[in-house]
Amino acid sequence: MKTKTIKMLIVAIAIIAIPLSSLVTGCVSAKVAAKSGSQLWSENCRRCHNTPPANTFSGEQWETVGLHMQSRALLTDLERDKIVNFLKGE
Ligand code: HEC
Repeated sequence: MKTKTIKMLIVAIAIIAIPLSSLVTGCVSAKVAAKSGSQLWSENCRRCHNTPPANTFSGEQWETVGLHMQSRALLTDLERDKIVNFLKGE
């Protein structure tokens, strides 16, 4: 009886813990990688203001804007690069 209870407990923990751990590790970075620049832009940049149209700034200026706004929007380098490329029209 006792070993059966322990076995059931182990199975129950495995059922709960395995999907949880894959959610926390693998999926998070995969999600960011799957997002397009326009998606990241609309989710992160329009929280505070509307961004001006792409032709307002040169490519070089958008790079600077990206560096400046990365710290405001708390973006990773990958997210910033995707957004900047989107705003440069690439
Ligand atoms: C936490 C709020 C916040 C977020 C998020 C944010 N910004 Fe800003 N943004 C500001 C503020 C405040 C200013 C004006 C002061 C400054 O330049 O720091 C500004 C200025 C700008 C300007 C200059 C506008 C002009 O006409 O000169 C651009 C371009 C810009 N942001 C683009 C972006 C982009 C692209 C993102 C997303 C990566 C972003 N911002 C995210 C707050 C934010």
